Amino acid sequence: MSRILVTGATGNAARHLPGKLLAAGHSVRVLVHRTPATELDRRIETVTGDLTDAASLRAALDGINQVFLLTVADGAAAFVEAAAAHPGLRVLLLSSKAVVNTEFDGFENPIYRKHVLAERQLAELGLPTAVLRPGGLASNALRWAPAIREHGRVQALFPELAAPLLDPEDLAAVAALILNAGVDAHRGATHTLTGPEVVTVTDQVEILGEVLGRPLEFVRLTEEEALAALARTQSPEFVRDYIPVQRRYLTLTPTVHGTVAELLGRPARTFRQWAYANAFRFA
Ligand SMILES: NC(=O)c1ccc[n+]([C@@H]2O[C@H](COP(=O)([O-])OP(=O)(O)OC[C@H]3O[C@@H](n4cnc5c(N)ncnc54)[C@H](OP(=O)(O)O)[C@@H]3O)[C@@H](O)[C@H]2O)c1
Repeated sequence: MSRILVTGATGNAARHLPGKLLAAGHSVRVLVHRTPATELDRRIETVTGDLTDAASLRAALDGINQVFLLTVADGAAAFVEAAAAHPGLRVLLLSSKAVVNTEFDGFENPIYRKHVLAERQLAELGLPTAVLRPGGLASNALRWAPAIREHGRVQALFPELAAPLLDPEDLAAVAALILNAGVDAHRGATHTLTGPEVVTVTDQVEILGEVLGRPLEFVRLTEEEALAALARTQSPEFVRDYIPVQRRYLTLTPTVHGTVAELLGRPARTFRQWAYANAFRFA
């Protein structure tokens, strides 16, 4: 059994991972940043730290032999600095399917840049590493939860935007599979992960309405309205690039990858399954 550090576990992508690792018998430590880790099993150790602060990561890595690592704006620079003193460490990096579009979209786009940087930094560090590249997550629909709860309404810029959304439950199941086997068994592997079917924004709104048992109104935002809404929660760099990036995605043909089913031996979960499991978060 491993001693595993999970980063980003208060967020949507990694929320399900600590419980799965605990159930498999590992000793689990979670790096808490700003959001309190209120949903965690009491047997999971927590340590406060920051992925941009090498000193805090040095402390968090003490006694750890595998880590599930999220990226930050500069990739994984602070982590690499801290991990250099841990030659026995194994790393499972949460990157993004978006990295394959970097040449197309330009390396300076911060959404892609951090993942490309992290993959390069980890390769240079030389520790045994496996990489997960998920596409868009079903849980991104949670950004609509407040407006659905209050007004029964979803507002978005591009209703035709389509993607094979991945259930974070599947992402965690794949991550747990790799950490259970040990990263050494997947050393050098890059797994691209998607959901089983392409859904548009319009499809998602329809499915959520069916699951919640009430039709939802869809309102198409103007670009000005979309940017003003984003500016309330996102960095200026993210806001600057948002519309060009979304326009790029409209020109790409979304591709379903069978990796989740191949690795887990069962079908990947659909957006509808995710919506049923998370309906309470919209109600
Ligand atoms: N969402 C997607 O569609 C998608 C697709 C592909 C890849 N990804 C990758 O998955 C990552 C997580 O996505 P998500 O949807 O889970 O985002 P999220 O819900 O915003 O969660 C982000 C998590 O990272 C933590 N975090 C942020 N900055 C940190 C720092 N400086 N030090 C330590 N922890 C920090 C957050 O904790 P606090 O809230 O306390 O800061 C939170 O636990 C993305 O950043 C991206 O790299 C996401």
